[in-house]
Amino acid sequence: MSLMPATPINDNADDRPTPITMLPVPETARQPLVLWVENLSVSFDGFKALDDVTLTLDRGELRCLIGPNGAGKTTLMDCITGKTRPDSGAVYLDTRLNDLTRLSECRIAELGIGRKFQRPTVFPGHTVLENCELALKGKKGVFRALFARLSVAERARIAEILELIGLAEHADRQAGLLAHGQKQWLEIGMLLAQDPKVLLVDEPVAGMTHAEMERTAHLLQSLAGKHTIVVVEHDMEFVRSIARRVTVLHEGKVLAEGAMADIQKNPRVVEVYLGE
Ligand SMILES: Nc1ncnc2c1ncn2[C@@H]1O[C@H](COP(=O)(O)OP(=O)(O)OP(=O)(O)O)[C@@H](O)[C@H]1O
Ligand SMILES: [Mg+2]
Repeated sequence: MSLMPATPINDNADDRPTPITMLPVPETARQPLVLWVENLSVSFDGFKALDDVTLTLDRGELRCLIGPNGAGKTTLMDCITGKTRPDSGAVYLDTRLNDLTRLSECRIAELGIGRKFQRPTVFPGHTVLENCELALKGKKGVFRALFARLSVAERARIAEILELIGLAEHADRQAGLLAHGQKQWLEIGMLLAQDPKVLLVDEPVAGMTHAEMERTAHLLQSLAGKHTIVVVEHDMEFVRSIARRVTVLHEGKVLAEGAMADIQKNPRVVEVYLGE
């Protein structure tokens, strides 16, 4: 029985000559919690997109969120970032005092939740370096950003980020001229400039070449620890290459959660998703 979804997004055989190298993923001791999602429910015209979803994230963990189309993965991210207001339930960051579902999208971003959408949203007419600078200044608010000059520490941080995302050599290149994968990494870099505690990444490798996917896997793994990361992805080869704990959503509910090896063997998960 195949463990790949029947129609993975990036099923381009020519583009993917070799499987992604499996990296050793130790089952690390659990860290203090950073994010609590509690009993979250959302309906759209009576249809339950999320149905009593509860999950917690350890500080610094890299969590994969998988499940069939329409399972509610993006809706969950929308609720965490304030784009969608849930009908009931709560989301807490850092402490269980401040329910994010009552705050604006802007305030939630300020508190430390960064989100990367599927399509890169870089400023195409600006250079790679300028994009990172704008992202970093954006954290200061519009007024300060207009007049802000970067400190030595901020410049060093940007240099570090460019190195991390593999675009140091392209710092002066117009972002619009970058390859698809490079744009995705730049956007991750722009999020990093805002130093988020939690980074939500929706389908990062859609449309990427095999080599770009490998780099993205390494990038996300290198960010875990410093940041808490949630990755939504349909490409199971990619998920296997980075996964530690995996949460499976199905019809708005958490169907299963655990180590990737166990999830792959879970008969319900195989039935509704992996064995399609
Ligand atoms: N703004 C909206 N209005 C109405 N229905 C919506 C809205 N957003 C999501 N839905 C519905 O809620 C369900 C969950 O959608 P969601 O986008 O969260 O799924 P997903 O798990 O991200 O799927 P995919 O893997 O295809 O991206 C779907 O049936 C979708 O049509
Ligand atoms: Mg989605």
